[in-house]
Amino acid sequence: MTNYKGVWAFARLNTMRIAVYPGSFDPVTLGHMDIIERSSKLFDKLIVGVLVNSSKVPLFSAEERVNMIKGVVSEYANVEVRSFDGLLVEFARLCKATAVVRGLRAVTDFEYELQMSQTNHIIAPDIDTIFLTTNLNYAYLSSSVVKEVARYGGDISKFVAPEVRRQVLEKYNR
Ligand code: COA
Repeated sequence: MTNYKGVWAFARLNTMRIAVYPGSFDPVTLGHMDIIERSSKLFDKLIVGVLVNSSKVPLFSAEERVNMIKGVVSEYANVEVRSFDGLLVEFARLCKATAVVRGLRAVTDFEYELQMSQTNHIIAPDIDTIFLTTNLNYAYLSSSVVKEVARYGGDISKFVAPEVRRQVLEKYNR
């Protein structure tokens, strides 16, 4: 007897539009969350990829960043969070993703993002990069800004979710 349920599940997996949203997320900000929320509506599945090895020295370990993001995206049923090491396009392939999502905050982001997306496309022509312009409210925001303000005792509640704020303040013993 044909297992229609299995066939349907296989067919669906093959037609699912999967995207990866990569970054350092050290920590995840409301700007990142805005991109996650919007791109989760554009794809069947969105995988947030937390970069493990980076030239940056992170405040939070990869595991802490993954758990932190899981905590703030739990309301989105089609969003998964994983860490990755190595080439982004290899991670995207592993996830069966056909697109990479990046947020563009300002013109200054453009040159770097263009170079990255073109390089990725040469390495992996089957994977495209989709850019979402960041919500104007978060155009100025970066993870470094959050850490800088927190380190000097400033209020970061307009930049990050309450649970993320708690964890950042804990790192600075505040
Ligand atoms: N809201 C708020 N901040 C945002 C943001 C948004 N929507 N979009 C980006 N930012 C900020 C980040 O907080 C981060 O701030 P910081 O520099 O203060 O930490 C900064 O912009 C950089 O963004 P991020 O998305 O974390 O990029 P990255 O440069 O750290 O990493 C990767 C980008 C992971 C995509 C890239 O390094 C990569 O692909 N690495 C794997 C290796 C690889 O494949 N290399 C070949 C690519 S050519």
